[in-house]
Amino acid sequence: FEGMTISELAKRTGQPISYLQYILVNVGEKIDSEFEPVSIDIAELVAMEVGVNVRRLHSNEGAELQPRPPVVTVMGHVDHGKTSLLDALRQTSVAAKEAGGITQHLGAFVVEMPSGASITFLDTPGHAAFSAMRARGAAVTDIVVLVVAADDGVMPQTLEAMAHAKAANVPIVVAINKCDKPAAEPERVKIQLGSEGLPLEEMGGDVQVVEVSAVTKSGLDKLEEALLLQAELMELKARVDGSAQAYVVEARLDRGRGPLATAIVKAGTLVSGQHVVVGAEWGRIRAIRNMVGKAMDMARPSMPIEIEGLKGLPMAGDDIIVVESEERARILSSGRKKKSERDRLRKIDEGRIETLEESQ
Ligand code: GTP
Ligand code: MG
Repeated sequence: FEGMTISELAKRTGQPISYLQYILVNVGEKIDSEFEPVSIDIAELVAMEVGVNVRRLHSNEGAELQPRPPVVTVMGHVDHGKTSLLDALRQTSVAAKEAGGITQHLGAFVVEMPSGASITFLDTPGHAAFSAMRARGAAVTDIVVLVVAADDGVMPQTLEAMAHAKAANVPIVVAINKCDKPAAEPERVKIQLGSEGLPLEEMGGDVQVVEVSAVTKSGLDKLEEALLLQAELMELKARVDGSAQAYVVEARLDRGRGPLATAIVKAGTLVSGQHVVVGAEWGRIRAIRNMVGKAMDMARPSMPIEIEGLKGLPMAGDDIIVVESEERARILSSGRKKKSERDRLRKIDEGRIETLEESQ
């Protein structure tokens, strides 16, 4: 929709030009001519008002792309050691060591390796983060670490995680955990995974497998190496300049600081002080903090951050977009709220009609 004129918008939405002009006047936007391009915010607003679904396509055309760290989600069966593994990985970070091991508990964290390379891990329950993001058509996750306990083997949620990753077209790196246990049978796990259709590297496929222990911390360096290798193959890059496109990983209400959102920047640079619309909420970014709680002026791609200054609590998976002014943020947010309310009511209606049909 970027750079579209009112007359083009009318054609695309199938609405009369006069009606679109009426909407714009109502939200306080002055448009001199129907042939004048409108901003993407206004285009979205108009589209929402007439009930057309929009998704912002951020064009990277002509922009300089730079390598960015991979964003990794850990998934696997209950009790196979996802949380333990994340905690162990967190402790391998150079930054965590510098901070004396005291890190804030955010929904995401970065592990910096002595080599200077880094990996961003999502620390929210794998399934939750995944499905919310996927629903928005915006998988933030680049790679899935599939954790399988060496003493328990492939279980229902192992298969579920595999299916999720496949559906989202996200590559898997397998971490066979609990290899310190006497009952560990990593070879058996590999055979199970292979027969479930996962093409493991040692069987001629391209899925890497690493044997680890979250307790003894063995194999963690190998896992990190495998993730960096996978990332390298994917040539992960992002636009660094220009306005940010980011996603909420987790949100919570803090008594003193108000709504806080943990977010990952996908592209561009998020700057403190900017006006943003986050899902259906809005605000002005009062502070950006990194995972050790340090205030930052800005955030770049793949960096997990916590933002403060939103007026309401967003949801995991919500997108964060930067808008020009407070007024626009307010208008877009109320437009989105109205639209989601309309969608909700329509769903209830549809449900009612279905029930009626069934009962006949
Ligand atoms: P849910 O979040 O409930 O799905 O579990 P989880 O996958 O996060 O597992 P969690 O990290 O909570 O670990 C489950 C149990 O396994 C705990 O008692 C851990 O101490 C234990 N555990 C995790 N990793 C290892 C390991 O590498 N070796 C051994 N011996 N025990 C482990
Ligand atoms: Mg856990």
